[in-house]
Amino acid sequence: MKIVHVTDIHLVPQPATLYGLDPCARFDAAIVSIHADHSDADLMVITGDLAHWGEVPAYQALRQRIDLLKVPVVMMVGNHDDRASLRTVFPEAMDDGNGFVQSSRIEGGHRLVFLDTKQEGSHAGAYCQTRLTWLAEELAQSNEPILMFMHHPPILTGISSMDAITQQDADALWQVLQPHSHRIRHIFLGHVHRPISGNWHGISFSLIPGLNHQVPLELSPHGEDIPGSHEPPAYSVVSINADSVVVHLNYFLEESRRFPLDGYEIKGRDYALGFPAE
Ligand SMILES: [Fe+2]
Repeated sequence: MKIVHVTDIHLVPQPATLYGLDPCARFDAAIVSIHADHSDADLMVITGDLAHWGEVPAYQALRQRIDLLKVPVVMMVGNHDDRASLRTVFPEAMDDGNGFVQSSRIEGGHRLVFLDTKQEGSHAGAYCQTRLTWLAEELAQSNEPILMFMHHPPILTGISSMDAITQQDADALWQVLQPHSHRIRHIFLGHVHRPISGNWHGISFSLIPGLNHQVPLELSPHGEDIPGSHEPPAYSVVSINADSVVVHLNYFLEESRRFPLDGYEIKGRDYALGFPAE
């Protein structure tokens, strides 16, 4: 199974820009790249923060683009999203029966679980008892290996301003996941706008950059004021294999030089040593 993971697109309708960048243009460029190189993907998942201010016109801008996608897509919500506005434009958006934008389904021999971690009125994530009960029932349905998708990370990254708005009830979430942990193969995350990987209770995760603005690597305590940056955007291309999960970041706007690395065995040492400057 091949999955394209996109996160934190933060759309605002053109001609507006956001932190000096055009999120619609960024999303368009990502789609061009995905269509050119990864149109064979089984699924594209956007792990939340679809619209920066959760406004209907931003979701309409998203709708125009989603309707042209050649890859099946799942759209999740993040702290910046508004469920009612999303449903106004996307009446087919996920619904768990309790109004939360979440679902799970079997695909490629896996249970794919898409969580709604938004906490109303806060940028921090939370997963209330209603959602925990839903999740426990979903996971109890069958025994396939599990792939999880969440907006808020259940871990602390060391970036103090983002840790202040991370998943607040990760321990309660873990209590529900723990009986199934042996079959959870990977967790896909957004929210922090940085490339971060590691594991949580031994389960691997990948957190990837957003498509518009980023959060720089600031590990010294800086309170709750979130630093921003114009580091490059990326999406990830994921291979779900029988014995591995492989996550490639694709910095799709990157235009630096491409050249063959042929060693001196082929072209001679002078090829590498005498490489002309750009
Ligand atoms: Fe975000």
